[in-house]
Amino acid sequence: MIDSKLYPVIFKRKSIRKFAKEPLEPWVLEDVKQQISKLEPLFKDIKTEVAVLGEKEIGGLFSINAPHYIAIYSEEKEGSLLNVGYLLQQLDLYLSKEGIGTLWLGFGKPEESLKAKGGLPYVITLAFGKANETLHRNNVSEFKRKKATEISSVTGAGLPGTEKLIEAVRLAPSSTNNQPWYLKCSRNEMYVYCKKMSRVKNTIFPMGKKLLPIDMGIALCHLKIAALHFEKDIEYKVENKSSSKEYDYVITAKIQ
Ligand SMILES: Cc1cc2nc3c(=O)[nH]c(=O)nc-3n(C[C@H](O)[C@H](O)[C@H](O)COP(=O)(O)O)c2cc1C
Repeated sequence: MIDSKLYPVIFKRKSIRKFAKEPLEPWVLEDVKQQISKLEPLFKDIKTEVAVLGEKEIGGLFSINAPHYIAIYSEEKEGSLLNVGYLLQQLDLYLSKEGIGTLWLGFGKPEESLKAKGGLPYVITLAFGKANETLHRNNVSEFKRKKATEISSVTGAGLPGTEKLIEAVRLAPSSTNNQPWYLKCSRNEMYVYCKKMSRVKNTIFPMGKKLLPIDMGIALCHLKIAALHFEKDIEYKVENKSSSKEYDYVITAKIQ
């Protein structure tokens, strides 16, 4: 599912907040389930479960009236929220590619019954359905994002095309559009950092604590897809790197 075919979607996807009421055709929902079975984790040893839910099961829990929802559940361990962001962003891009609207829902209170699946606690939801507004952006200038220079530094002679990889991260969606990422790029490696919770202006504690790592997982998904598009690959490895006053070290992307 981490597929270079998703690369062009990075440049046009947007959050949809107006959905048509009618459900998607059964074969479309069947395809979504198929795609769920093809999702590629960031960390293979973290157990997750994904459920496709209808309006009746989830309606009213969020302020959005979408006909369908994908809820994800995960074992709680080091890297599990990064992994959740990485997994669901594959679906966010896939659905957008297929002409279906999506919205990440981090600020809702799912009812008690949603709180566990297969013994794993609930993490976050992605709403989806037919969009009742423009589905895609026409131009990168329509994205409200920080400049590349605010989210990255390149030391020495960066790998040719590094700026293209940075761009894919820059355009990633994040909770309250925080864009907490920072990339320090050398020739074959990118050190990925996340803004410290105390430095993020518009997040809500304690939710932000959960959402920032999910945002980072989304960015890592974009980075991997962009690398594949440029016929490179990325191996992610958590190393022993120091954090700074403003940023916490998250992971190293080894570009091959
Ligand atoms: C982890 C996460 C949680 C989010 N939670 C919500 C939410 O609860 N409600 C909402 O309206 N938007 C939510 N969003 C959407 C963001 O506000 C949106 O992605 C961001 O403003 C960038 O806009 P764009 O997706 O249109 O590019 C969330 C996004 C992410 C990545």
